Amino acid sequence: MSSAIVLGATGITGREMVKELAAHPSQWKTIHALSRSKKEDFGSPSVQQHHIDLLNSAQDMAKDLSSIPDLKAVEHVFFCAWLQMPTEKENADVNGAMLQNFLDALEITGATSKLKRIVLVTGCKQYGVHLGQAKNPMLESDPWLRDESRWPPNFYYRQQDILTAFCGEGSKHPEISWTVTYPNDVIGYAAGNFMNLSTDVGIYAAVNKELGRDLEFPGSEIFYTKFDSFTSSKLHAQFCVWAVQEPKTANQAYNVSNGDVQSWQDLWPRVAKHFGMKVKADQFASPGPKDLANLVQLTEKAPQPITMIAKEIGLEGAVPPSELKQRISLVKWSKTEEVKQAWNRLAEREGLQKDSLEKATWAFTDFILGRNYDVVISMSKAREAGWTGYIDTWKSLSDTFGELEAAAILPKTH
Ligand SMILES: NC(=O)c1ccc[n+]([C@@H]2O[C@H](COP(=O)([O-])OP(=O)(O)OC[C@H]3O[C@@H](n4cnc5c(N)ncnc54)[C@H](OP(=O)(O)O)[C@@H]3O)[C@@H](O)[C@H]2O)c1
Repeated sequence: MSSAIVLGATGITGREMVKELAAHPSQWKTIHALSRSKKEDFGSPSVQQHHIDLLNSAQDMAKDLSSIPDLKAVEHVFFCAWLQMPTEKENADVNGAMLQNFLDALEITGATSKLKRIVLVTGCKQYGVHLGQAKNPMLESDPWLRDESRWPPNFYYRQQDILTAFCGEGSKHPEISWTVTYPNDVIGYAAGNFMNLSTDVGIYAAVNKELGRDLEFPGSEIFYTKFDSFTSSKLHAQFCVWAVQEPKTANQAYNVSNGDVQSWQDLWPRVAKHFGMKVKADQFASPGPKDLANLVQLTEKAPQPITMIAKEIGLEGAVPPSELKQRISLVKWSKTEEVKQAWNRLAEREGLQKDSLEKATWAFTDFILGRNYDVVISMSKAREAGWTGYIDTWKSLSDTFGELEAAAILPKTH
């Protein structure tokens, strides 16, 4: 029987982490779910919620941690917390400090004594997918974009450097091992947390239905037929639990995706059907409405990640510039009077959380749907280590719509 600490327990990946551990009480004796808000009701006797503010100093966090009764018996830590900052430099500074101070707090309190594994959740910014096209499929062995004269600081690199200096081979605590995960475009639910592709797509569909319109893809027509990789937060949690019990995954990083092949050309009609709508048949016949369209040339901001190895793989000068194109920018769309009124009407009638429209992270989904390049991560390394988990992406998305409906964020479809 093990005890675990989950940081970021109220977030999309952390909440499922807690639930997955709590679903196996014969294996996991106590799960300490840590966050600032403690807003979840996990409803499980094995879950204890505690307050922590990762922005505090290591000494202050140590004080928070000392209220955990069996702290020195904890064997596994799952670090799923992060805080979005306005710039990549601040992301690296703040999220790096959050992890470093937390690890120092573990040491101050003696919580490292029985610790076996620390899992850090990061993502595919590892490969620079936020900067433009990377090589496909992305492999965990692909070179890091370390050169800060070419690319902005990457907070995942900062966090992994901190983690590997703390534990793993040749570190301060070689007896503690680490595992890092790289999920992408996470599909899941977290109460009151709206960095959530499923919430945004669902609200966009529901409002269009309310307005009596067919469902029009708001992103790039190029991305509509490109391939993306999605990660169910439930499957990700299962992966993490498997990984801490599998010695082969010690001191290794892994891509974690659903394991199917997906593209919006397949998902979008299913989204339409789910909401009782039709896809607009000629949705790409004309440019989007001028006042709602948006185009950003990513290549003007930083070199595309693929340039790192383009010569070596014979693609020098052959990769089209990376751009973000929204035919209908969801950031702009969500601020129009027509949309606000339609949402308010719908929310009133169906008893939905009114602030969902305002709280949704439209810029995040604008980015996800607006790229003009594939994002495909390989699951070969995980499979070779023995991982067999899989979930169909549409199933995970439609199940999440169901959870959002039950939480009165989306209108009931059935
Ligand atoms: N969401 C995605 O689609 C996605 C995709 C790929 C990768 N990722 C990566 O996955 C990792 C986890 O992200 P997520 O999306 O699961 O997170 P999330 O849903 O945005 O939740 C963030 C969590 O961090 C906690 N947190 C933030 N600041 C804190 C602080 N100062 N002290 C204590 N807790 C704090 C929050 O709790 P409170 O608010 O209660 O404090 C919350 O539980 C990140 O590295 C993210 O970049 C996410």
